[in-house]
Amino acid sequence: MSFTLCFTYKIRKLFVEFFTFRIYFYYLRFQIDTHSFMQDLIKADQSSIWHPFTPLFGLREPLLITSAQGCYLHTSTGKKILDAISSWWVNLHGHAHPHIARAIAEQAQRLEHVIFAGFTHEPAIQLATRLLEILPSNQAKVFFSDNGSTATEVAMKMTFQYFHNQGMKKRKIIAFEGAYHGDTFGAMSVGDRSPFNAPFQPYLFEVEFIPLPTQSNEDIVFSQFADIIRGGEVSGFIFEPLVQGASGMRMYAAEWLSKAIKLAQENGVICIADEVFTGFGRTGKLFASDYLTAQPDIICLSKGITGGFLPLGVTTCTQQIQAAYQSEDLMKTFFHGHSYTANPLTCAAANASLDLLLHADCQENRERIAQKHAQFLAQHQSNPKFHNIRQLGTILAMEITQSGENSYFHEARNALYYHFLDQDILLRPLGNVLYLVPPYIITDAALELVYEALVGVGEVKGNF
Ligand SMILES: Cc1ncc(COP(=O)(O)O)c(C=O)c1O
Repeated sequence: MSFTLCFTYKIRKLFVEFFTFRIYFYYLRFQIDTHSFMQDLIKADQSSIWHPFTPLFGLREPLLITSAQGCYLHTSTGKKILDAISSWWVNLHGHAHPHIARAIAEQAQRLEHVIFAGFTHEPAIQLATRLLEILPSNQAKVFFSDNGSTATEVAMKMTFQYFHNQGMKKRKIIAFEGAYHGDTFGAMSVGDRSPFNAPFQPYLFEVEFIPLPTQSNEDIVFSQFADIIRGGEVSGFIFEPLVQGASGMRMYAAEWLSKAIKLAQENGVICIADEVFTGFGRTGKLFASDYLTAQPDIICLSKGITGGFLPLGVTTCTQQIQAAYQSEDLMKTFFHGHSYTANPLTCAAANASLDLLLHADCQENRERIAQKHAQFLAQHQSNPKFHNIRQLGTILAMEITQSGENSYFHEARNALYYHFLDQDILLRPLGNVLYLVPPYIITDAALELVYEALVGVGEVKGNF
């Protein structure tokens, strides 16, 4: 090799090394900068944000999520966490679904918001019309609000004023023990009187609570229910149809509920189905009310309604209920509303989510998940590690065999939560109740992974 050739080669090598080093150096700096930026964000979170349902001591710092796609949440440290609970049961079609994202973006450029009293808009009209097409056939009117709690508040206020407008004194309301209908005062009142709402108990209104019917007590509970109904002055009966979500995925029979609704309606009692959790395919059918032979008078919806993109609450009712408000007397108006009622962006998201929900692919996915759950159930029904494995549609739940009563405050809860998180799976046990409520697009492989993790818990249960 000539001297010049050798010299050029060496110079070029030096350049390459120099730039490679610089690129590496910049990469490292980028990593360090990003890491310290993320750390700063977490610090800022801790100093300025009060998170929901989160004790202020004894927990790890929150995970910083930078993006999400499909069933996975991406953390700032590069982890991919499998969202097996649809982020508090809201996400139906996977995170950042392009169809919903596009619908919101397009709507944002046309009309982002408008007052909903005296004004209306196409996304809301479309959504109301489409919901009424798929809800039980007696539902006739759609009232919009912001979330699940407001949807149930609206339902109760609608019920109470229905009788008030007709000059009838009916003050009692019946609810199930173990119920959860939200965190506002009316919703807390009809919810289980648990440690969650203990500080507020003096401020909650009186409710007639009945036990959740099981195979062993259903006749007793029914006669208790019938006694209260026949005792008079009952305005409403509110229930989570077929599954009580928050109190531990407690399931009960459609036959019992149908019979109770029939008796209640024969006695002039308004029946309110809180489908905030069970709606939009979660239980297999589009709505849990579709399993019933008697139709509720009022239905509350939220959570999955926008596919998990934006907050929206909806309360629907029959023509008969609204008729009690149709009067020239101004005082018979339903004076309830929220600034963001029927926000066009949320309605556009809900319409796009409905497109996906009503597509044959989504139906197939829900059936596929239900079948996989059923297989798991059949396989593990007599597994001593678990107790009371149950399933309805895409919901699978079980208690890990532990000492102590089932309760959200069961000591196993935090250990279990972190046990799964350390395996990059987001499951949020309700005490010692493990449950799976996945987005409908979850793959069989991902489901298998979660099942394995569930079975693994049984093996390490001694540590909890
Ligand atoms: C059946 C039911 N109703 C109402 C609510 C309250 O909904 P939100 O959290 O949107 O207020 C929930 C929440 O979990 C629920 O499961």
